[in-house]
Amino acid sequence: MPESITITDNRNGQTVEIPIENGGVAASAWSKLLPGIWFYDPGFTSTAACESGVTFLDGEAGILRYRGYPIEELAERSSYLEVAYLLLKGELPTPAQFEEWRREITHHTFIHENLRKRFLEGFHYDAHPMGMLVSAVAALSTFYPEAKNIFDPESREKQIIRLIAKMPTLAAAAHRFYVGMPFVYPDNSLGFAANFLSMMWKIAEPRFDANPALAHALDVLFILHADHEQNCSTTAMRVVGSSHADPYSACAAACSALYGPRHGGANEAVIRMLTDIGSIDHVDDFVAAVKRGEGRLQGFGHRVYKNYDPRARIINRTADEVFEVTGKNPLLDIALKLEERALSDEYFTSRRLYPNVDFYSGLIYQAIGFPIDMFPALFAIPRTSGWLAHWVELLDQESKIARPRQLYAGEAERHYTPIGDR
Ligand code: CMC
Repeated sequence: MPESITITDNRNGQTVEIPIENGGVAASAWSKLLPGIWFYDPGFTSTAACESGVTFLDGEAGILRYRGYPIEELAERSSYLEVAYLLLKGELPTPAQFEEWRREITHHTFIHENLRKRFLEGFHYDAHPMGMLVSAVAALSTFYPEAKNIFDPESREKQIIRLIAKMPTLAAAAHRFYVGMPFVYPDNSLGFAANFLSMMWKIAEPRFDANPALAHALDVLFILHADHEQNCSTTAMRVVGSSHADPYSACAAACSALYGPRHGGANEAVIRMLTDIGSIDHVDDFVAAVKRGEGRLQGFGHRVYKNYDPRARIINRTADEVFEVTGKNPLLDIALKLEERALSDEYFTSRRLYPNVDFYSGLIYQAIGFPIDMFPALFAIPRTSGWLAHWVELLDQESKIARPRQLYAGEAERHYTPIGDR
């Protein structure tokens, strides 16, 4: 039996049969069959804006897969650079393909000296690193004007490699400026995560060798943050990409979306929340205040996960590995108590609010030594590969420019009165 829904228009008694495809109704079918009737859907909770083969997510079951591979397997056995390749190309690389990819990324980590000296160093001394990163990513488009040729495969590939490779350099440069330390050039002999740690913390030593356990933990966090289907920042990437802007401009928009506390800024908000709570003795009062509507439990809840976020489970294990090296983050006990308290409270269980990826990631970042202001940048570095995978997919699809409808709720027509008569 064909899948469809029958709608009766009670204004004129006419019935219309609407075909259901892949569990939904295509706007093209809808607008032909029911012209003038549209959905009011702020936040896109019931709207699929694209077809995508990058990431599969089942929020009810707590499943996350990149290109079909379970996130648990990738976190356990892969590396961020391999995952970035997988997201972008759709398949895991052969050894030769991976070597070429690793070499290309490694050799594009340097940034133009003018970007650092004239642009980044022009910021106010206490500029937030994420503000600097957003601006620097946009500024890259002025260094690579050929990036406008978004349908030239060679140019497209070049910008993809540049973006993935330069994000850690830009993020670390923003940090060094913020703390008044000299810029550290990339070290091509180091792996992706270890090189980032070197650019963050190298001082006078000829080579900064990060603790391998910490570099590995960071790499796992990069894998977990690499993509998450149509989240706010990826949607921003697709919306700007749909206008055929260059990838740096589109990525800067995605970075901006990531900066907000409801999205990539949540791990920063979690640490501030735990610091404010201050002691496990204050957890009950804090939970009571959240239930009264006085703020949110940061790091809890998700638009699509109505179950434990699978990334949060992996992060719990990574946290143990990191704390073994760094010692336990003193805020951990408060976080554990808060989680236990929330998961046994009807307010949270009835709304299906569980810890998300950001509940524990901030504790790990802080234990590794990252300042709180760097947290959103740590999210932006790996998410760049996900943004780009969606951007490529969008350009290869027959996509329309993103342009939603609105429900006009303003004034009816009225006439201008000169200022002196008002
Ligand atoms: N604390 C307390 N109550 C909450 C929370 C929370 N963290 N999240 C949702 N609720 C309540 C909310 O008040 C509402 O209750 P009611 O039905 O009584 O009005 C109900 O749960 C549904 O909330 P919503 O705001 O309609 O849900 P949403 O899907 O629009 O929001 C969210 C999702 C992630 C923005 C939200 O859960 C939130 O603000 N969480 C805290 C911030 C956070 O941790 N963000 C990181 C998301 S994961 C990383 C990423 O992918 O970016």
